[in-house]
Amino acid sequence: MSLLAPQEPETTAQHAAPQAMEPRRTHGDMGPLEVRARRHHLIDVGDLDDDVVQRMWQRAKELQQREQRGIGTQLFGTLRGHVVATLFFEASTRTRLSFELAAQRLGALTLPLDVSRSSLEKSESLVDTLQTLAAMGATMAVVRHRDNAVFSNLGPQVGLSLLNAGNGTEAHPTQALLDAYTLWQQLGSLQDRVIVIHGDILHSRVARSNARLLARFGARVLLSGPADLLPSDAELAQLAGAQVCAFSDAIPQADAIMCLRVQRERHERAGLADAAVLRAAEATSFLHAHGLTQERFERAKPSCLILHPGPVNRDVEIEGTLVDHPRSQILQQVRNGLYIRMATLEWIAGVLP
Ligand code: CP
Repeated sequence: MSLLAPQEPETTAQHAAPQAMEPRRTHGDMGPLEVRARRHHLIDVGDLDDDVVQRMWQRAKELQQREQRGIGTQLFGTLRGHVVATLFFEASTRTRLSFELAAQRLGALTLPLDVSRSSLEKSESLVDTLQTLAAMGATMAVVRHRDNAVFSNLGPQVGLSLLNAGNGTEAHPTQALLDAYTLWQQLGSLQDRVIVIHGDILHSRVARSNARLLARFGARVLLSGPADLLPSDAELAQLAGAQVCAFSDAIPQADAIMCLRVQRERHERAGLADAAVLRAAEATSFLHAHGLTQERFERAKPSCLILHPGPVNRDVEIEGTLVDHPRSQILQQVRNGLYIRMATLEWIAGVLP
């Protein structure tokens, strides 16, 4: 069953149910009963209209400004009554903690599931686990999973809203939202801006979600990296006009360069453990062969920004000193992640201004 199928109306919710609306369509396409029977999910950026993305960015900016004015420590309360469960089947620092903090800052309760000590270890299915959390009152579940197909295997019977915190190599929508927000903040507009995404594109859900989102706002996305870490031509054709480009050609054109970590854990699972590029990464010669070094960055425009979704492996994909460069946005991305995830939770709850 697909998440996009209509769902049964909520009849037993103990808490304010997420306001219903099917992704990829507008309220205007549906009658009120149908709207109530549907629930927001965020699986990838395609679930958000351009208008919603822009409202999220505006809301993130407003939340950020409130904090700068010294009123950010107050709970906003827009998610009071909600319970946000987090289920991380892969490691995370930024995404998990910022979702939990965002939920708490908005007045929701959080329900972090320690997957390794849960009944999933006793072969309980993910559907049954989600239904169990919903029965306890959870209204949203933030899920990170190594399987690209994890969300296609879930249906509306899970009984709560699903937020993708990164699935396999497929999508990481809130990362793309916060990256694009950071670029929008710094560059003023994404129209005709050249954004270079560099590194292990093949295994990167961040690259895929970013390519899809940035192109919608007029940016030109160039993908560069070692030849065996680039997507196939067939996949590239589905990436919203993104083009492959040699890093040396891309650098001078870039308004921003986003470096990506070499995802060794996915290489090993894909049987690429013997790939030359992985051996090079292990030998830290990856930096000199492929990474963003000080020397290479000197060929960029004086205004060119440095981004990285994290976690960073200093002196592998990027020279350590560039992480701390005045034009590095890496910690700003982390800060923005909190506000974007607050806005995302508000959208899920149907209370995004
Ligand atoms: N960018 C990102 O997803 O970081 P974490 O793995 O720390 O969540």
